[in-house]
Amino acid sequence: MSIGQATLRVEGPLKVAGAARYAADNRPDAMLYAVMVGSPIAAGQVTAIDFARAGAVPGVVRVLTHEDMPRLGALSMPAAVTHIPLTSREVQWEGQAIALVLAETLEAAEEAAALVRAEIAPAPALMPGHGKLEPGPEDVFLAPMETKGDFAQGLAQADVQIVRSYFQPTRNHNPMETSVCIAAWQDDELTLWNSTQMNLNAPQVMAAAFGIPKEKVRVIAPHTGGGFGCKGHVWPHEVLAAAAAKIMGRPVKIQLSRAQQYSMVGHQAECRQVITLGATRDGQLTAMRHEAINTTSIADTQFEAMATATRTYYACPNIDIDQRIERIHLVKSSPMRAPVEGPGSWALESAMDELAVALGIDPLDLRLKNFAETEPFEAKPWSSNKLREAYAEAAEVFGWRRRNQMPRQDGPLSLGRGMSMASTFCARFPSEARVRVQADGRVIVESSSNDIGTGNQTVIILAAAEALGVDPEAVSFQWGDTRYPPAGPVYGSSHTMGMGGAARNAALDARRKLAPHGAAPGERLDLAALMRELGVDEIVGEGKFELPGNAPANLNGAGTPWAMQSWGANFVEVGVDRDLGLIRLRRAVARYSAGRIINPLTARSQMIGAIIWEWGKATMEASQIDPRYGRFVAKNLSNVAVPVNADIPANAIDVGFIDEFDSHASPIGARGIGELGATGVAAAIANAVYDAVGVRVREVPILPHHILEALQAQAA
Ligand code: MOS
Repeated sequence: MSIGQATLRVEGPLKVAGAARYAADNRPDAMLYAVMVGSPIAAGQVTAIDFARAGAVPGVVRVLTHEDMPRLGALSMPAAVTHIPLTSREVQWEGQAIALVLAETLEAAEEAAALVRAEIAPAPALMPGHGKLEPGPEDVFLAPMETKGDFAQGLAQADVQIVRSYFQPTRNHNPMETSVCIAAWQDDELTLWNSTQMNLNAPQVMAAAFGIPKEKVRVIAPHTGGGFGCKGHVWPHEVLAAAAAKIMGRPVKIQLSRAQQYSMVGHQAECRQVITLGATRDGQLTAMRHEAINTTSIADTQFEAMATATRTYYACPNIDIDQRIERIHLVKSSPMRAPVEGPGSWALESAMDELAVALGIDPLDLRLKNFAETEPFEAKPWSSNKLREAYAEAAEVFGWRRRNQMPRQDGPLSLGRGMSMASTFCARFPSEARVRVQADGRVIVESSSNDIGTGNQTVIILAAAEALGVDPEAVSFQWGDTRYPPAGPVYGSSHTMGMGGAARNAALDARRKLAPHGAAPGERLDLAALMRELGVDEIVGEGKFELPGNAPANLNGAGTPWAMQSWGANFVEVGVDRDLGLIRLRRAVARYSAGRIINPLTARSQMIGAIIWEWGKATMEASQIDPRYGRFVAKNLSNVAVPVNADIPANAIDVGFIDEFDSHASPIGARGIGELGATGVAAAIANAVYDAVGVRVREVPILPHHILEALQAQAA
């Protein structure tokens, strides 16, 4: 095995054997189980809490309320919210914790939690569509009100213009492992076993909350059972676990129930978008406007910078962006795969299809006509861009140019084909790694890196092995503990670039120390022989992946001569049943321009997973809110539809990568892929539905009643 060859994930055997230790599997001595009691209403003031009956349940040790909490220091990012439940009487969302039951067993804590009675003086609750509108905040992705050129003039030059609105509802991440944190204090040192996408976030937040140096906080988190963005920042249960452990002088475990996963961590915001496009008769874009609103919470702001799609996808001289937020009484929204261009591409790539129809131009030709040769806003050259090749190969494999000779009917199904562009931002974070070469030639790589199931351990091993000039079988990886060198986060599709780069640099450092007379680049080393010659037990290499100006994050190559982005081309065939309104996935073909692919096996899995993920967004998923109670109607996996095997025909999804090496994005040539595959696909599906039955649905999920109502309107 080596870079570019399909390699089985190294942590796979641990997981298959049930030996991978997740946060909830830990049980420090004297640990208490904590269960949160959530507010039944979305807004108000707690006036009284009666926990007499709860406290009498055998095994219950204590019930904590807002009257017991220590004063916490002011919090900021990476704390997901600054409104920490239980630190005041105030209720800002349904399900927000108002009491915390601590018991010797989980069963006792759960029983007692159901017996806690609260009086809450209700306040009017703001619900989606009726919230408080505000201008979007300044953001790393875009300024909320941003203009290039002269939009009005551009629109005046257009022969054809369209203005269309697109909707997507709140949705939840639903990782298999719900969020969990176990906190244990020893004097002023805090240890957390945590389910997280970023080990190094909690120390910063705990340091601020409890007034201790962040070096006093150790996080142990080798395995996280999925995240999708809801474990990217530090949520209140982590702070509450640490606070309760401090109060009790005993370790405390808080694991969210599936229902609490809907109210104590984030979800994807409701997104409402209006796209205006103007083009000349031959398909040249003259004006683009992207207006967007996302819901977010009362006290804390998540800005879903979806207009980034319009800022970065196409060459157009006149672009206008107007993004706002709407504050509502719901737990704060959060990034969810794919944030930013995920919602943005749903609207823009639907609108581009509508423009193509209006112009009578093939949707692929319309996209090629407006191909962004350089970054559209600043005209910076791309670090590397193989989108044209991705379009060409995916179109060829799909048979796009021959689609009008393809069958239009299969039994009850009307068949349609649609396409879209995929593209997502390039976020990079600094990372560090240590490479320890042992006397027998074995190599150990160390970093605090997390594992959320994407296979990054294997990628890091492959990167280190290549740089060192040894077989990956000789390399093992120690990760998931803040005692190791600091890794970047496992979000924003960033980890391969940062950690792969750091592992490579650490390996090169070790190589220099091992072969001081200089091994030729790429030359394979016999580490055991070199170590014998040197006569030492261990050689340690250190390596960093650093950003321009030593910044803590870098977006899209800011501060470099290059603009960075990942791309893809999506082609989808669906079948639509006109009588039942059902949509079936027939096949999907996608090709991606994402830099060098380090492990094609796990990369392919991610992209297939992303297309299935988007199938869910396009045809099934919504976290409906009951506006009377401010409550998600179904807080479980039995009443929220998500794709299952039966929805995805065998071998229906064909993904692949264009050969590429992006030396500017990372020393290993990679860019990000994790979220790329979950952009554009929902639009391609809606475009295929239009191709099949001639109705345009501008709301996801596209449900049977949307199709049937539109068909009825069409017939009328
Ligand atoms: Mo991803 S939404 O950055 O976990």
